[in-house]
Amino acid sequence: MKLSDRIGLIPRNNWDYGFSALAMAFANAFNHSARPSNVEAVFGQTPVWTSSGRASLYAILKSLELPAGAKVGVPLFCCSVVFDAICQAGLTPLFIDSNVEDPNLSCEDFCAKRASLAAVIAVHMFGNPCDMQAVMAVAGGIPVIEDCAQSIFSAYHGKQTGFLSTASFFSFRCGKYLSAGEGSAIFCRAPELRAKIEKVVDTFESWSRPEMLIDALFTFAKAALYHRPLYGLVGYPVGIRLDKKLNLTAKEGFRTAKIASTHLALIDARIGDFQTKIERQKQHAHTLLNTITPGVLGLPSDDDGCCANWFQFALRFQSARERDAMAGYLLRHGIDTAKYLDDIAEEARSNYGYNGDCPNAELLSKTILLVPIYYTLQSRDIERIAHTINAGLKTIGATGR
Ligand SMILES: Cc1ncc(COP(=O)(O)O)c(C=O)c1O
Repeated sequence: MKLSDRIGLIPRNNWDYGFSALAMAFANAFNHSARPSNVEAVFGQTPVWTSSGRASLYAILKSLELPAGAKVGVPLFCCSVVFDAICQAGLTPLFIDSNVEDPNLSCEDFCAKRASLAAVIAVHMFGNPCDMQAVMAVAGGIPVIEDCAQSIFSAYHGKQTGFLSTASFFSFRCGKYLSAGEGSAIFCRAPELRAKIEKVVDTFESWSRPEMLIDALFTFAKAALYHRPLYGLVGYPVGIRLDKKLNLTAKEGFRTAKIASTHLALIDARIGDFQTKIERQKQHAHTLLNTITPGVLGLPSDDDGCCANWFQFALRFQSARERDAMAGYLLRHGIDTAKYLDDIAEEARSNYGYNGDCPNAELLSKTILLVPIYYTLQSRDIERIAHTINAGLKTIGATGR
């Protein structure tokens, strides 16, 4: 890549953590008494807080008191930290295939595997709500946990995701919508189960003040590397070489911790008017939908009765060859993209006992490309991305679905 292209490289993810976030973190590292009020006002419920989505899932699973080793259904097309949290809770992941038209769990496959499951996790992937009516109907009596790490403010038949099941969790890690560093909220309506979740979370460790301050500084530095011009010059080349080794994007690691006051303050400060940022991201998504040459590749859409938050914009190609060619083309034209979950089948096979029975999910992992549409991009960036995709489609000779 030429130096000028490096300087202008559009990052694949949004790490929205600048000076004001850092200043707020520093102020709140010394103030443990602040009580979040905006989150409760927005959701109409008081969450149980933890430091991460994975810790929240662990707390929910522990509180369900399932027999040791019991099987928990989880889409294969999902972040592997979720599989790890299931194992950390002493349970066993059982992989469920995906739909092809949307990246969520296939109720058909869930139904086929239902008899051996003690619980199931419904992941609202890319902010697209699962068909929760169907999920709950297939689940029958077993607990359903909504993974809302990517679906804050998405709605299903008028109801927000996270309030459609037994219990749910959200993630506020950098790179997610709210990008507060870390942090997670658990919601659960049943008082008895909620009390059990609180009891589990009470055993979690607290953040020390130095830990919070160091974390804020590191998060700030990493976020700076996720912005132009540093992204193309440093963030991208370092990330490509060292992400796995240094776990820069936290794809590994498990710690049962309470939420840090630094993260909580930022979540609470941002959530009140966050919808306006989501609206901007939705507009970006619609610009892409209206500009990309139709009929050539699979484009995302809102399903009937659903209102997605458009956390991610996933292009689906006919083959891995086309997907990879487009990723290369966009990179050469100053746009970084993500081959999300590209290695998930191999990872699940090696570490979590996956037996190869999720063909749709495997296909998705090799044919999906996430292109940036986040709210901090300018309209001219989005227009450039859309036109470059169109030019790329001609150049790579994409053949259509
Ligand atoms: C779908 C999904 N579930 C769960 C998680 C875990 O959230 P956290 O990183 O806060 O542990 C993530 C993100 O890493 C995710 O993308």
